[in-house]
Amino acid sequence: MAAAAPPLQASPAFIQAVENRPKPHVPEADGIPTIDLSSTDSAKLAVEIGEACRNWGFFEVINHGVPEQVRRRMESAAREFFRLETPEKKKVSRDEVNPTGYYDTEHTKNVRDWKEVFDFTVQDPTVIPASPDPADDELKVIANRWPEKPPAMRDICRDYGEDMQKLGFKLLELIALSLGLAKDRFNNFFDEQTSFIRINHYPPCPISDLALGVGRHKDGGALTILAQDSVGGLQVRRKSDGEWILVKPNPNTYIINVGDIIQVWSNDKYESVEHRVRVNSEKERFSIPFFLNPAHYIMIEPVEELVNEQNPVKYDAYNWGKFFTSRIFGNYKKLKVDNLQIYHFKKD
Ligand code: OGA
Ligand code: NI
Repeated sequence: MAAAAPPLQASPAFIQAVENRPKPHVPEADGIPTIDLSSTDSAKLAVEIGEACRNWGFFEVINHGVPEQVRRRMESAAREFFRLETPEKKKVSRDEVNPTGYYDTEHTKNVRDWKEVFDFTVQDPTVIPASPDPADDELKVIANRWPEKPPAMRDICRDYGEDMQKLGFKLLELIALSLGLAKDRFNNFFDEQTSFIRINHYPPCPISDLALGVGRHKDGGALTILAQDSVGGLQVRRKSDGEWILVKPNPNTYIINVGDIIQVWSNDKYESVEHRVRVNSEKERFSIPFFLNPAHYIMIEPVEELVNEQNPVKYDAYNWGKFFTSRIFGNYKKLKVDNLQIYHFKKD
């Protein structure tokens, strides 16, 4: 049998600007804090998480409560789906109306990412604005698309999504506590959440020194819970010196990062930190981020308990749904302009 065509072909669209290309040797982060969520002392946990959010914007969790079996099933379903021939995967392709499903043409800051992805929302269906246009009030209802293979994909993704939500709310509550807020301060914003899960597949890359799996970016949502396999490739920008640091994969742990929304809610006390993905010339890699996102109608602004005369509001309020749709549909095509970023709402 002839070997299947590789999913991606090298082309100039993937080439990063010289200053963004990955360096061959990147120090491994031993600094990323590890947080043991089995502790029943939530005040102590909140202090640890608060420090991690302030100093790194990234941390790793262990004893997180997600059953290993649920994760393993999710990971094998991911492998099985991406092993399919491209035309089979394209049967569940995203389009300009419904952003869920398969695609391989994402761009980060206008350079194509060396990856293919499958996206699904954890609330099915999910309501989002029909367009990023601020003058357009129309909404649309998007439903997940499921491939025929593997047959259990839908159930596996639903189970995984439920565990991600549980962990997401646990972390959100600890983050609220760490900011001195009521533990449920943020919970209602997620009543009609637009959270989604992305399965990333980074195939082996013949131009791994010139391309990236995902170009440098910050996550736009509230927080991200990432499962990565044992290959490694995630790099984060160390706050202390701006160096790119490799986040070492550890079995059955999750990497958590603060997204732009928590940065704004906390009025910059916590920052959403830049990260990117290095690809590998020999090995494929899988990662599965869960993006915890609020309802489309939520206005994002610094929480009032955290601002005062000494610490004035740093952002104008913005609508999450419009921000989200501008990101997802902006990424769909290579745009001439940079996509929407929270600094666009920064005061002064
Ligand atoms: C992302 C991301 C990291 C990874 O999808 O936003 O940062 O390790 N992924 O795949
Ligand atoms: Ni990211």
